[in-house]
Amino acid sequence: MTHQILIGQTLGFTADPFSTPVDNATDFQSNGGVVISEGKIADIGTADQMRSKYPHASVTDYGQKLITAGFVDAHVHYPQTAMIASWGKRLIDWLNTYTFPEEMRFADDDYANEIANRYMNLAIAHGTTTMCSFATIHSQSVDAFFTAAQSRGMRAITGKTCMDMNAPDGLRDTAQSAYDDSRALLERWNGVDRLEYAITPRFSPTSTPDQLAALGALWAENPSCLMQTHLSEQVEEIEWVKSLYPTARDYLDTYEAHGLLGDRGLYGHAIHLEAREIDRLQDVGGALVHCPTSNAFIGSGLFQMASLKAAKLNIGLATDTGGGSSFSMLHTIAAAYEIGQLSGTALHPAQLYWLATAGSANALHLGDKIGNLRVGNEADLVVLNLASTPAIAQRSTRANDIWEALFPTIMMGDDRAISNVWVNGKHVHNK
Ligand code: GUN
Ligand code: ZN
Repeated sequence: MTHQILIGQTLGFTADPFSTPVDNATDFQSNGGVVISEGKIADIGTADQMRSKYPHASVTDYGQKLITAGFVDAHVHYPQTAMIASWGKRLIDWLNTYTFPEEMRFADDDYANEIANRYMNLAIAHGTTTMCSFATIHSQSVDAFFTAAQSRGMRAITGKTCMDMNAPDGLRDTAQSAYDDSRALLERWNGVDRLEYAITPRFSPTSTPDQLAALGALWAENPSCLMQTHLSEQVEEIEWVKSLYPTARDYLDTYEAHGLLGDRGLYGHAIHLEAREIDRLQDVGGALVHCPTSNAFIGSGLFQMASLKAAKLNIGLATDTGGGSSFSMLHTIAAAYEIGQLSGTALHPAQLYWLATAGSANALHLGDKIGNLRVGNEADLVVLNLASTPAIAQRSTRANDIWEALFPTIMMGDDRAISNVWVNGKHVHNK
């Protein structure tokens, strides 16, 4: 067995820092070593310990750079890569004006492949090693995404985005074709290499009750699959859902009534939740995915991180590219901090970093495989330069501890801070 040692500052988590004091929840080494073997993290300790334990290993010394798990983006729309940063609309107008015309282009295989590869390159350059993406209604958009992830050795998730109403011609399927196509894709891709299929109704406004029920049936037949959708993102959207589904008790009930509420469910945004919705999500264990740059960019509202974590909900963090305004999980963490501040809670850097790695991995039910610097996990790693710009460097050199050293990169960092990326034990990016 060959071993590779990466030397640097190292940061991992031993517990959720929302429920365990930060010092007990984190494992930081200022002169650490991470040993990789056969695509996995084989050992972690001090650099000296690792060098003497593995004398024949090849060594890469990253000096003062920080080695952590790669970022996990728990909700993204890779087909929206080319229309990110489109100006001036609220959710429904933004979808109709910018998103749907762009998603229409994925009927073309070549375009789907081009954007899937462009997106993967951007994601890796920003330190994101796993993502859970929406595709478009076209099966080839799923094939393009999985092919791009597979060729890079990545752990990645997507699903055909199903819509059979309130979407333009060319971007609608039916209840039956959504079921048939999703099932065929699931059978083709789920569990192949590091790939997983997620059953994907876009959101209640674009699915008839029949389509939601068909996808609920598919999930019941494949309960180990993830299911992803959107929930309570904007107040106008919630009013629309209530008018489309007049017998539903609330937005979540439109999913619950059709078999789409479960512990492997991923509910994006979840900003304006009612008490019953929180109770049900608590009972069932479905995960909420916080998309802070998107929530600010589209003007959706303030996610209630502190109270929802206190209620023990499973929460991941995500870019929501291109409703989100960045490919960077560092920007996303910064936005989560700012939204926390606007809601009255200053989230600790450990909590923020945990959300972008272990928290998102847990939301995706992948916490035993990725999202943490832990022996046995897959070696998806990012090496951060904590002095990537003069403005960041002049602040981080004054730091008294790792949190003060990391926070300027969280708040002001971008892809320039992503020094190196490892995927499945292979070196894939170097700046
Ligand atoms: N709700 C339904 N579809 C979308 C989407 O593509 N982006 C966002 N932000 N919200 C949605
Ligand atoms: Zn979304």
